[in-house]
Amino acid sequence: MENLRALMEAVCRIAREAGHFLKEERKSFRREVVQEKHAHDYVSYVDKASEKRIVSALKELLPEAGFITEEGSAVYQDEPYCWVVDPLDGTTNYIHDNAPYCVCIALRSREELLLGVVYDPCRDECFYGWKDGGAYVDGQRIQVSNVQQMEDAFLVVELPYNSCQYARTGEHLIHNLYGKVGGIRMTGSAALAICYVAAGRFDAWAEAFIGKWDYSAAALLVLEAGGRVTDFYGNESFIEGHHIIATNGHLHSTLQQLIQEVPPLGM
Ligand code: IPD
Ligand code: CA
Repeated sequence: MENLRALMEAVCRIAREAGHFLKEERKSFRREVVQEKHAHDYVSYVDKASEKRIVSALKELLPEAGFITEEGSAVYQDEPYCWVVDPLDGTTNYIHDNAPYCVCIALRSREELLLGVVYDPCRDECFYGWKDGGAYVDGQRIQVSNVQQMEDAFLVVELPYNSCQYARTGEHLIHNLYGKVGGIRMTGSAALAICYVAAGRFDAWAEAFIGKWDYSAAALLVLEAGGRVTDFYGNESFIEGHHIIATNGHLHSTLQQLIQEVPPLGM
């Protein structure tokens, strides 16, 4: 597709508008409006309204594209392009008035990611990038860290909603990393954790049972920032996957091996 950069600038505006909507709604947000989609997986009118706004703006921008969205308000019917949208990543943080949370928009062709935008209204930071065009935060080019040893690594071990299938892997990772690396965090927003890998703020992230909308936009930024993204098996063609590792490249195989010692049930 020609002129990805111009398209991406328009997508940044759409993501920012949605992010401002999230922040405004947060001021009057009440816990009574929260519904549970699955155990501990929450949603509210804010996620749904944010998605409607984004979808309608993206439809105007590129009428020939379909949609994969977390709240399912639009569909993909084998169109040549596909928007992948999370209207609010970090919903559990949001409903508890915690940061961070964000808006994620990626554009895919059938085979590859073309552009990605992740806007964090809490810090007013917009991460974006496009295929072969690099990755940026608010006009500054970003790149992954150069940390080479696990003992120096600052990692994210996110624990997905699917606790029955992930508990053994999560415990194994924490048991083997805690006290042996520079630090471990759990952010509550997979998309922002991955963006932080792209920006060199974290060195590695991994999570299973995760939606395409959670990782697609940010994963492209890691690749454009010089990092590595694969599924838990090490496949570079991860865009249909649900078990994803994103790192600065140096730590990738060590983290992958650790995960494979006790792989998630059903992997
Ligand atoms: C979730 C967040 C969380 C991750 C979950 C995701 P949501 O997305 O990214 O950090 O652990 O697996 O589903 O539900 O807030 O959009
Ligand atoms: Ca979401």
